[in-house]
Amino acid sequence: MVMWVFGYGSLIWKAGFNYDDRLVGFINGYRRVFYQGSTDHRGTSEYPGRTVTLEPAEGEVCWGVAYKISGKEDEQTALTYLEVREKQYDKKAYVDFYTEPKASTPAVSGVMVYIASSDKKLNRNYLGPASDEEIAKQIVRAQGPSGPNRDYLFQLEKALLQIGCEDRHVMDLAKEVRRIISESEL
Ligand code: SIN
Repeated sequence: MVMWVFGYGSLIWKAGFNYDDRLVGFINGYRRVFYQGSTDHRGTSEYPGRTVTLEPAEGEVCWGVAYKISGKEDEQTALTYLEVREKQYDKKAYVDFYTEPKASTPAVSGVMVYIASSDKKLNRNYLGPASDEEIAKQIVRAQGPSGPNRDYLFQLEKALLQIGCEDRHVMDLAKEVRRIISESEL
């Protein structure tokens, strides 16, 4: 038995479960967006933070990592752990994962990924789009049991650069957050 999990947010730098392999690559048809509200990790109900989710986007790709988990026991342990950690993500999808930009066949099929949908009935924490300034202000202010929301953003920026991905949305937000922090220190 083998299970694969795709990480595009905190799962890139912190798996939290045993795995046998970790591949850098991408999935098709999605874009990474800071549209999900977090009240359990990077914010509170009073001041929700923002974490990434995936938005369907034709022609776009989202880079991240895929973890291979083998063996019934490790699989069960990983799933139980992820179901708690990703509990504010209301959807699981099974996607094709590619490691080569020009490849016509996926490196792995049926890779599981957690998505926070934009359906407010199923996902009451969904926040949706806003200007970079608004999102950045919210990130600067929020913190939760897993730490400051700004650390999530900076760690994501770093982890993406480490796998060779320059994600404009993430980098623009990180820049805006740094600007707000340095202004507040003047
Ligand atoms: C993920 O990392 O794949 C999901 C989003 C998150 O936990 O940050």
